[in-house]
Amino acid sequence: MSKIVVTGKIPNAGLEVLRKAGLNPQAWSQDVAMSREELLKQVQGAEILVTLLTEKVDSELLDAAGSQLKAVCNVAVGYNNIDVAACKSRGVTVTNTPGVLTDATADIALALILMVTRRLAEGERVIRSKTPWQWGMHYMLGTGITNRVLGVIGMGAIGIATARRAKACGMSVIYYSRSEIDSKIADDLGARKVSLDDLLSESDVVSIHCPSNESTHHLIGAPQFKKMKPTAFLVNTARGPIVDEQALVDALKAKEIAGAGLDVFEFEPKINEGLLDRDDVVLIPHLGSATTETRDAMAMLAANNAVAISKGRSPLTPVG
Ligand code: DGY
Repeated sequence: MSKIVVTGKIPNAGLEVLRKAGLNPQAWSQDVAMSREELLKQVQGAEILVTLLTEKVDSELLDAAGSQLKAVCNVAVGYNNIDVAACKSRGVTVTNTPGVLTDATADIALALILMVTRRLAEGERVIRSKTPWQWGMHYMLGTGITNRVLGVIGMGAIGIATARRAKACGMSVIYYSRSEIDSKIADDLGARKVSLDDLLSESDVVSIHCPSNESTHHLIGAPQFKKMKPTAFLVNTARGPIVDEQALVDALKAKEIAGAGLDVFEFEPKINEGLLDRDDVVLIPHLGSATTETRDAMAMLAANNAVAISKGRSPLTPVG
């Protein structure tokens, strides 16, 4: 029987898939991620690893696991925690969980768009801090999103789902993407493909949905903020390192942009101190896929990938 190590706590729905397939996973059961030292010990002799984005899968970890390792099944659509090239050179298959978290993540992108443009977190802080307030014609005015332009960076499934939600709120959509999208989807959305520079200068809200890799590292930094409208907002539900976080703080201070809604951070879970006391940013702790049903679906898809590989079948959602 394949030795399967589940390196982080996953929902029972995922463990059940493994058990029903006759596999007996060695699963971490604590909410807090394993220490690196523990992780390197636990993976020894594994044929399949089921990993979370809190686990860095690099050459050191692959060596610690051993040459019998066949696959790393990530319970996330993003896989920037995994050195895919190192896996490939060792013949280790990598899988992720696309599709099942599209709507949950797009919901959070829309929520951040509304929160930051309408100053919702700031308003809530007023109430919770018992700061005196009174309704007033000029009190805490935000920016409406109807008839504004959403610029989507990375028009994959989550980018498209976010664009659909924004369109329903009366926004028009432009996008910057490496890959072509189905022309019917683009037509339905009335979405126009543009260069990154045009997207930055035309958008009222820029929402990031591309993968995090070497080519997208700091895709949005000081020069890009200078191209944005001073009234525009940045939303990031993809991965922190796509944005140069210090450049974001500087751009907010210099009023080069109007605000930001962030679900992900460059050095997660550390947050740049310069963001913490700003009212023009909304900060939430990587909640994109955080619904019970989505996490169950993610765990089940990762487990089904592991089962397929252990039975010598092709995985459902391989990376690359
Ligand atoms: C993903 O799947 O990449 C998400 O960020 C996890 O919440």
